[in-house]
Amino acid sequence: MLGCRSSNHMRAVDLIRKKRDSGEHSREEINFLITGYTRGDIPDYQMSAWLMATWIRGLSGAEIAALTEAMLQSGEVITFPELPGKKVDKHSTGGVGDKTSLVLAPIVAAGGLHVPMISGRGLGHTGGTLDKLESIPGFNTGLSLGEFRRVLRECGMALIGQTAEIAPADKKIYALRDATSTVENIGLICASIMSKKLAEGIDALVLDVKTGSGAFMQKEEDSVRLAELMVETARRMGKKAVALITDMDQPLGRFAGHSHEVIESIEVLKGRGAADLRDLSIELSAWMLFLGDRTKSVDEGCALGAKLIASGEALEKFQQGIALQGGDARVIDDYSLLPQARNRKEIKSQADGYLSATNCMEFGVALATLGGGREKKEDPIDPGVGLEFHKRIGDRVTSGETLVTVFYNSEAKLAEAVQRIENSFIFSNQPVPGKKLVRRLVGA
Ligand code: URA
Repeated sequence: MLGCRSSNHMRAVDLIRKKRDSGEHSREEINFLITGYTRGDIPDYQMSAWLMATWIRGLSGAEIAALTEAMLQSGEVITFPELPGKKVDKHSTGGVGDKTSLVLAPIVAAGGLHVPMISGRGLGHTGGTLDKLESIPGFNTGLSLGEFRRVLRECGMALIGQTAEIAPADKKIYALRDATSTVENIGLICASIMSKKLAEGIDALVLDVKTGSGAFMQKEEDSVRLAELMVETARRMGKKAVALITDMDQPLGRFAGHSHEVIESIEVLKGRGAADLRDLSIELSAWMLFLGDRTKSVDEGCALGAKLIASGEALEKFQQGIALQGGDARVIDDYSLLPQARNRKEIKSQADGYLSATNCMEFGVALATLGGGREKKEDPIDPGVGLEFHKRIGDRVTSGETLVTVFYNSEAKLAEAVQRIENSFIFSNQPVPGKKLVRRLVGA
């Protein structure tokens, strides 16, 4: 097997060996890998092997910069000279129940800024914004560049995935990482996120870097390192950027699962819903409004975000955005239009005590086991399955109380999912403080 050969005799097989043996790639070698894979000259199996070697050996700062730029240059870098005002976006590193994009994009668009958001699908144990939106009947996350521009111009927000035109390298590598357990690597995450975000033609970016048992970076110091790397990358490319290090020691909000998360987001836009989801969505919106020069301070941004929810303008914006992307906007008032699981099961606490910690990643894996995630790239998602979390860290729990309601369709994987969930709650006899939502700011 010769592997992929270029005119100057660079070969993927040699670059895989080099990374396997802890070598450092030159910029030309990284460009060769990324252009070759994006074009289809380098097959999935060689890219998978390189990703695993990279996951194990890591990337130097110079390699991360070269990878980010090669992935960015794999497609078009959009600009929006026709749109007045600032373009801003937010990206999260991913977690369980992390659905803030669905809440904050309409808030910020209702506030008068433009949000051209390129998002991802589920990755590892985390859910993806695109998969969530696609649980809305008809919603098209695959708009052409022309349609993306039109929707953005008409309503101030548009949410799509990477395309053959924009960040195509990330489109392919992202799906491959999801199916090859090569996600949790600082360099690969930085290049994936920043190649999409820098292609969007934005002026400012807010990064939500998760930390804790449900995050890719479980240790706070790793999350801070990732945040610093991404903020520095954004600034090097002339963008304003800030990162919030936020808690993922437990799910965000009350629900995980695609239709359930759409409903929960709509509830927050109606002024109801989970307090943590509402607070974090408003805080992230406030940073976007501030960096986009719409408000003079983050506090003013928070007040504006809350006002746009209370007035119904943010909800109206979401409804308009759904319709413009081909979705059935009646879901705003009629949740039964969203796919629903047929069965439910309550998981009860076997213990008395205070909920002190969760193995949050296991909730995401349990959801994927029920059909709410992919094992292989081609797998469909079951948008109706979900988990409802009844207790938060710090809550007093008595034996027999419901911890989680599982919404499921197939009995086949239920026992495995239930076991994962049951094993993921840790109790203490002593009172435990609740978790702080925003742990730190980076680059503020
Ligand atoms: N989000 C992304 O877009 N890419 C990653 O690698 C992780 C989270």
